[in-house]
Amino acid sequence: MSKNIVEHRFKVVKSDRNRSNGHASFLVWFTGLSGSGKSTVANIVEQRLHERGIKTYVLDGDNVRTGLNKDLSFNPEDRSENIRRIGEVSKLMIDAGLVVLAAFVSPYKNDREMIAKTVDHDNFVEIFVNTSLEECEKRDVKGLYKKARAGEIKNLTGVNAPYEKPANPDLEITEKDSLEHAADKVLEVINKRL
Ligand code: ADX
Repeated sequence: MSKNIVEHRFKVVKSDRNRSNGHASFLVWFTGLSGSGKSTVANIVEQRLHERGIKTYVLDGDNVRTGLNKDLSFNPEDRSENIRRIGEVSKLMIDAGLVVLAAFVSPYKNDREMIAKTVDHDNFVEIFVNTSLEECEKRDVKGLYKKARAGEIKNLTGVNAPYEKPANPDLEITEKDSLEHAADKVLEVINKRL
C-alpha cells in the first residue's frame, strides 16, 4: 500500500452483503477471440440469473473501452493495463456482492493469472470461449477480420497478434455448442458456487 494511505475498515462487509442477497459473489471470466461469442453468452447467462433474483453485472471489452478504458490501445502494455483495471473493478464488484460476468479477449496468460490473484483464485471462474479463428472470421460481425486481412488493423488478436489459450479453464465452450447449450453449461458451473 502507498505511503500515507491508511485503509479504513467499514462495518458492512462482503459477507453481510452476500447474506442479504442470499448468494455468493465471484467473477466469471470469459476469454476468447473477438467475435467468439463471449458477450453473447454472458448476456444470456445474466438474463437467466437476473430472472432468479441474483445480483449481477456484465463488464465487456467494447463497452468499457468507451469509458473507463478509453485511453487504452491494443498494444500488449495497454491490453495488460485494460485487464489490470478490470481486475480491480471486479474486485470491488465482488465486494459489493455481485456475480460479475466479464467478457474480454484477454489474450495473455499472465494477465489472466493477475486477475485471479487480484480477486483471489477462489473467486475466479475461467471460461474459455474456444471458437476457432476460421469461424470468428466467417462471422466477422464487426468487420475487423476483413480490415486486418487488408492490412488496415495491425494487431488483431488471432490474425497478427497472439492469443494464448488457457491451459486449465474451469469450462471450455466451442462453436459446436448452441448459444443456449453454452449458457446452460456456464450456469451449471455458476450454480455450484452460488
Ligand atoms: S483485450 O485484448 O484488451 O482484452 P478487449 O476485450 O478489451 O481486448 O476488447 C476487444 C474488442 O475490441 C473486440 O471485441 C473488438 O471489437 C475490438 N478490437 C478492436 N481492435 C482490436 C484488436 N486489435 N484486437 C482485438 N480486439 C480489437
